[in-house]
Amino acid sequence: MEQTVKIGVLGVYRGRTMIEYCKHDSRVKLAAVCDKRKDALQKMKEELNDESISYYENFEDLLESDVDAIVLANYANEHAPYAVKCLEHGKHVLSEVMPVQNFAEAVALVEAVEKTGKIYDYAENYCYLVAPREMRRLYKSGALGEFEYGEGEYLHNCEAGWHTITYGDPNHWRNNMSAFFYSTHSIGPLIHITGLKPVKVTGFEMPYNNRMARMGAKAGWGSLIIITLENGAVIKSLHGVGPSKNSVWFSVYGSLGTAESRREAAEGDCAIYTDLDEFEGENADRKNKYTPKDEFSERAEAAGHGGSDFFTMWHFVSKILGEENAEIIDVYEALDMFLPSLLAYRSVLAGGVSMDVPNFRNPAEREIYRRDFACTDPKVAGDMLQPSYSKGNPYVPSEVYEKLRKAYLKTL
Ligand SMILES: NC(=O)c1ccc[n+]([C@@H]2O[C@H](COP(=O)([O-])OP(=O)(O)OC[C@H]3O[C@@H](n4cnc5c(N)ncnc54)[C@H](O)[C@@H]3O)[C@@H](O)[C@H]2O)c1
Repeated sequence: MEQTVKIGVLGVYRGRTMIEYCKHDSRVKLAAVCDKRKDALQKMKEELNDESISYYENFEDLLESDVDAIVLANYANEHAPYAVKCLEHGKHVLSEVMPVQNFAEAVALVEAVEKTGKIYDYAENYCYLVAPREMRRLYKSGALGEFEYGEGEYLHNCEAGWHTITYGDPNHWRNNMSAFFYSTHSIGPLIHITGLKPVKVTGFEMPYNNRMARMGAKAGWGSLIIITLENGAVIKSLHGVGPSKNSVWFSVYGSLGTAESRREAAEGDCAIYTDLDEFEGENADRKNKYTPKDEFSERAEAAGHGGSDFFTMWHFVSKILGEENAEIIDVYEALDMFLPSLLAYRSVLAGGVSMDVPNFRNPAEREIYRRDFACTDPKVAGDMLQPSYSKGNPYVPSEVYEKLRKAYLKTL
């Protein structure tokens, strides 16, 4: 009989996506759901209406349960210590974004993965959007030639729904992250498409604005990150939660041509636009636009975030079941996607200088970061605490949070 992977999910808000997924993949069984918010857990229990699922308020109970794998959809700044505990308890881990919040956590996470040999997979779903998936296929097939330049944008004006995702809580991680924190939706796909390692980074911070003030978010509205890769190619990443309008957009420039995804405001419904041939240079007309389809397209279509949410779980489960080539994002790749943004913020704090990006595959390179706790979370940073905005934490009157709290309570 085929093996069934028993899944536990921590966090029921974003975790709902993975909970839903389990209903449609016969290779898995949703065995446990955990959330410390009693009301939210109870609501999920009633909704699932399935006695075979265990419900826990305490993470320790989930850890001690007999699940094979745990999906971490808890607070974005708390994934690493939970991932380490899961791995040490013999569980495979699918971690939501971000993988870590500082370098010390990155060292601990890599060591836990290496020590336990369990599967760690980073759920950077934007890598599996239709256009980045096709760009990866084109790049791997050689059709794009050598990677020379690329851009990623994840601009999400979150103001309208901010109260529903921060509950009017001034201490919620979304209100205290720097503009550089939520970075892998834009950087991640370019790293995943090319498989190239980042070596240098410079950061630029967008100013604090009225939208951020109304949201009670104490950071610049976004950040621009310029990364040099090991082959000399350059990536430009732009992301933020406080732009005026949204943009999820990717482009790659190879030695044989270009490919870009459709702009949000563009007309037409093709997912990708290419300008490619077998020559390095301008030739005859070879522009092409299309929406690629493969064996997964139909199944993925119904999943969230443009179908990409299907793939994070699909590949995770496939890997657990022994499929060597399952397209997971391992811990080293996750850190290639994320560490540049930690350093980009340091670049800003240091006045705009360029920073070297370490390769965490190399124990000697990561050793110097073992006690580097710097981040914007006072719970872990100690005396290395960084401001959430480089020019000093903006003052947010308590009325802002009270208003958001009231709006949140009305949604319950
Ligand atoms: N990839 C994506 O597209 C995407 C989209 C939304 C959210 N996310 C990620 O999902 C994660 C969760 O975000 P969210 O929007 O659901 O909001 P959130 O971070 O406010 O929710 C976290 C949930 O986990 C629960 N939780 C936290 N610590 C716990 C603990 N120790 N024990 C039990 N329960 C605990 C909380 O009660 C809460 O319900 C974050 O990492 C976020 O970055 C990713």
